[in-house]
Amino acid sequence: MARNIAQFINDLPKAELHLHIEGTLEPEMVFKLAERNRIHLPYPSVEAMRRGYNFENLQDFLKLYYQTTRVLRTERDFFDLTNAYLARARRENIRHCEIFFDPQAHTKRNVPFGAVVEGIAAALREAAKGDGPTSRLIMCFLRDLPESDAMKTLEEAFPWRSLITGVGLDSAEVDNPPSKHASVFARARALGFQTVAHAGEEGPPAYIWEALDMLKVQRIDHGVRAIEDSSLIARLVRQKIPLTVCPLSNVRLRVYKDMAHHPLRRLAEAGVLVTINSDDPAYFGGYVNANYYAVQKAFELREPDLATFARNSFAASWLSDDDKQARMNEVDSYLIARADD
Ligand code: ADE
Ligand code: ZN
Repeated sequence: MARNIAQFINDLPKAELHLHIEGTLEPEMVFKLAERNRIHLPYPSVEAMRRGYNFENLQDFLKLYYQTTRVLRTERDFFDLTNAYLARARRENIRHCEIFFDPQAHTKRNVPFGAVVEGIAAALREAAKGDGPTSRLIMCFLRDLPESDAMKTLEEAFPWRSLITGVGLDSAEVDNPPSKHASVFARARALGFQTVAHAGEEGPPAYIWEALDMLKVQRIDHGVRAIEDSSLIARLVRQKIPLTVCPLSNVRLRVYKDMAHHPLRRLAEAGVLVTINSDDPAYFGGYVNANYYAVQKAFELREPDLATFARNSFAASWLSDDDKQARMNEVDSYLIARADD
């Protein structure tokens, strides 16, 4: 175990299942796109912008996130953004990713739906044909907007449905329970979309129950507040419902005061299928490997524990059963090869 754990984490094959593509917009790219699109920024420099990344809570973060998103205007912008993430993902040994995008944040600024989805999808397609990672695309509805807006967005997406695997639910959680979007999720399921939802990030465990019962989601994004409800934990374990947990995000948005108080280890020890993800890495201090590293340090995790999270990330993905098995075998082979070193 004297070997460098950071190197072990870096080389570990893994999937990322909770990543907002708009949340990968690094300040350097914000400045580049602002110049390209002639948009005025309220920051004198990249450094000044980064210094402002100190958030009180989710709402406080979202204000900045939506404001910054304004620099994304053309198909080429979305292509460049996605390409930059994929290059990073390759460096971090992410073999598969399932990526969120927030169309309403763009269409309400008169950016065409097609420019957003085609820019992202073109980059994903190139990666899948080349050195990877493979991917799926998930269209999120903004839960603080009316359900009718989400319904309009779902209809708008129809011509591009072959590029979009699933729908999700994100944005300001408190006072926007999953039940508000029950009809649009029913319609999405009827159209053949897979489903996920953010729930139990800042919102109560009751929102996780609602996401399961009323939206019939296959995974819960975050879901950390399930730790407060033992019968909910029992259900997640019994039904093997994965949680896409984002440890650095939860600390940066002050859901927990530090990593030592984060429930990741308790959830995993209770038998929940927990995965580790980065959420909005440009804002929260690190990509997926930084998240693995932060929890390794906080909970003194060993290499086999970390490999279990990587195996879970493939098990919880929307890859075919054969592909899942092949990727999990890769994790096992990696662990064995490292033990023999
Ligand atoms: N949109 C982008 N990041 C989000 C998060 N962590 N929670 C809810 N909505 C989001
Ligand atoms: Zn998220």
